[in-house]
Amino acid sequence: MSDRETWTSRVGFILAAVGSAVGLGNIWSFPFQTASNGGAAFLVVYLLAVTLIGFPVMLGEFVIGRRSERNAVEAFRSLGFGEWSIVGGLGVLASFVTLAFYSVVGGWVLSYIVGSVTGGYLGDAGAYFAAVSAGPITVAAHAVFMGLTIAIVALGVTDGIERATKLMVPAIFVLMGGLALWVSTLDGAAEGYAYYLSPDVGVIAGNLAGIVPPAVGQAFFTLSLGFGVMIAYSSYLGRDDSLPADGSAIVVVNTLVALLAGFVVFPVLFAIEGSIPSSGGAGTAFTALAGAFSQIPGGRVIGLGFFVVLLLAALSSSISLLEVPTSFVADRTGYDRTPTALGLGALVALVGVPTALDTGVLGWYNDVVFNLLLPLAVLFISLFVGWVADDQLAAELNLGSSFGSGFSSVWLWWVRIVIPVAIGGTLLLGIQSLLVKAGVLAAPIVLG
Ligand code: TRP
Repeated sequence: MSDRETWTSRVGFILAAVGSAVGLGNIWSFPFQTASNGGAAFLVVYLLAVTLIGFPVMLGEFVIGRRSERNAVEAFRSLGFGEWSIVGGLGVLASFVTLAFYSVVGGWVLSYIVGSVTGGYLGDAGAYFAAVSAGPITVAAHAVFMGLTIAIVALGVTDGIERATKLMVPAIFVLMGGLALWVSTLDGAAEGYAYYLSPDVGVIAGNLAGIVPPAVGQAFFTLSLGFGVMIAYSSYLGRDDSLPADGSAIVVVNTLVALLAGFVVFPVLFAIEGSIPSSGGAGTAFTALAGAFSQIPGGRVIGLGFFVVLLLAALSSSISLLEVPTSFVADRTGYDRTPTALGLGALVALVGVPTALDTGVLGWYNDVVFNLLLPLAVLFISLFVGWVADDQLAAELNLGSSFGSGFSSVWLWWVRIVIPVAIGGTLLLGIQSLLVKAGVLAAPIVLG
């Protein structure tokens, strides 16, 4: 595969990975997960999950990708363990399903950009959400969002993904930072900060079983782990890059964007609504924020800025989700990437149609991804890294790294023992919650 593209620079790779990581997960779901899981208490557990579980798994994907220089499926075979390709296959499938509903939410964002311009959500925020979240308009917006995603992926790794994320990631930061400054001037913002930033140790201790699974799930999702995105992206990387250094940069920047989103969302909600909405459902972010924007002086402009940030973040993530199946099919069949991206993107768009017609179906896709596919995929990857290809992968981590081989030995043992135990527990609780929601189980058996 001598004609394989590579990133033109290390910064290009970091920004593309940050672009993948920073998405709806940071800005749409993180503040509202925080709100529905005890505020600052959730924040603490989430930060621990990102650092202690997410970061080591990310390094695991990096070593698989860079060592093999292959897409997420072929990577396992090229390392000498063909039977593990099924794990990559699971990733391709999961990216497919995730993109199908992710793009529908991306379509909602497009409708809210339109709504900010026309003033459509002023007045009755709930009615606006109902009108754009399910139905023909939603299908159309979903199609537009997928079209944008396909166009970028079709252009390729350097001309499409690298170039797009180089523009989008700095724009997200600047706009989000500006919004955070602006909302800090609102009366009542201080209460929002207090809620967000004062963890109550009692709440953490009392709800650990309820907080840990969503925090771990959120950590995986926000770092784009499990589905082979980071395998695919690091496969275009040179041997002289330090993976621990790049990984830390990506984790830090991604976390900063999530934190920044909280600095926008919480002051807005406390200043306008006086409290945070009690349920963190899919629509809460949109209705609560649009409701608040329609009451702030200049709120439509803030709203426009906010939803444009959300769109950029969503797009730079959706391209990574489409890249996984595209690079697999293109590497495998030798087809050109343009028709491949187009064909696969059209298929994803079709799979997403039911979620664009019914927010309940969207909730199901979301729950299956969060509670089942994501922890399962990450569990398999960590077992592969820790127990199957362990020696060659630990050696790969040392290449280009100034962290020393002590770092890679600690990392390896961590991935062998701590991570599988943590994910195993999360997975069981996740499956239980799916069964309860499906009505198969009347009530949780463990830790209800
Ligand atoms: N990380 C993105 C977000 O926070 C979503 C995402 C992109 C993702 N690619 C992924 C999640 C791969 C899991 C796996 O919105």
